[in-house]
Amino acid sequence: MNREDFSILDQKVYGKALVYLDNAATTQKPNVVIDTLSKYYLEQNSNIHRGVHYLSSSATAEFENARRSVQTFINATSDCEIIFTRGTTESINLVSSSFGKTFIKEGDEIIISEMEHHSNIVPWQFVCNERDANLKVLKFNEKGEISVKEFTKMLTNKTKIVAITHISNSLGTINPIKDIIDIAHKHNVLVLIDGAQAVAHCKVDVQELDCDFYCFSGHKMYAPMGVGVLYGKKNILEEMHPYQGGGEMIKEVTFEKTTYNELPFKFEAGTPSVGDVLGLQRAIEYMRNIGLDNIAQHEHKLMEFTLAELRKIEGVRIIGEASQRAGVISFLIGDIHPYDLGVLLDRQGVAVRTGHHCTQPVMEHFGIPGTVRVSFAMYNTIDEIKIFINAVKKAKEMLS
Ligand code: ALA
Repeated sequence: MNREDFSILDQKVYGKALVYLDNAATTQKPNVVIDTLSKYYLEQNSNIHRGVHYLSSSATAEFENARRSVQTFINATSDCEIIFTRGTTESINLVSSSFGKTFIKEGDEIIISEMEHHSNIVPWQFVCNERDANLKVLKFNEKGEISVKEFTKMLTNKTKIVAITHISNSLGTINPIKDIIDIAHKHNVLVLIDGAQAVAHCKVDVQELDCDFYCFSGHKMYAPMGVGVLYGKKNILEEMHPYQGGGEMIKEVTFEKTTYNELPFKFEAGTPSVGDVLGLQRAIEYMRNIGLDNIAQHEHKLMEFTLAELRKIEGVRIIGEASQRAGVISFLIGDIHPYDLGVLLDRQGVAVRTGHHCTQPVMEHFGIPGTVRVSFAMYNTIDEIKIFINAVKKAKEMLS
């Protein structure tokens, strides 16, 4: 599509052309994003919202402009609903902690699904332990799909929030989040969506979804590491207790009492990663120029081709066969350990991820130690998939 924009891809590892298929872990960054970071530190670096001097005012203006870009990107109603965090993990921890303190009491229920990343499990366990609330888990079937009917049955008048992934990072399943949100709302239950694996791969419109919170990371969408976003509906965020205390999130501090700043600053204590936020804005602009629909179509083709080719290899077992799926494919071959396969693929220049992918309950469901996972981005090509498939065949021969 535009590989030449990603210089890092143009290299050899162990004397072989690099085939990077670990995009669900992190995507590579186009040169324009790297240039944005470098320009920021070479010409613009300054703390924001604090100084009257030129550099501070201009960095503040750029930072707030980036917030508006994110607002437009996910179609939020207001820029005060966009909170910059360090990533999806921090966004979820922010909600679980602040929402938990404000709204969760003894006996309340929180629903998550069995396919959640650990970062959408553990923060809710913290809240449940602190508030004596109950964590309920929506199971998936052998194809890796959840049932909306089963979900509906789990809702009670004690349910306060549902936290669910948009796209599974280990199964590739695209969850029916619109149905989940609509049903939850009929029961006055709020919904948080973990969008880490979605925002770079399909169009996300938070108003159309009507989700209450949507979380994502910059580094999985061609932006730098260290920056992420929490989208939250204004009226809910306003009621929530602040997450961290510090500079920026206050209006007035005395030793007796502190009043909090307005949104979004109430949730942005301390100096943010300004350069990374500008990099995120540049990455959004880059994706928008290519078009999310074009990216989705391209990745869909790669996914279909890979699945078809993998299925031709004897002994291959695809883990996750959902009918609605994205460009994340987990698989195993016979009883070959995923780690061994991953190492042999690496030696042939192919970067994949092996292990439990921070979703141990998914592995437990299938009774497996882990999987080999390939995941696509806009710059991957059919030729690379062919190299990957040949590498899998070769590795299989060596390990059988
Ligand atoms: N959450 C990231 C992954 O799925 C790291 O690989």
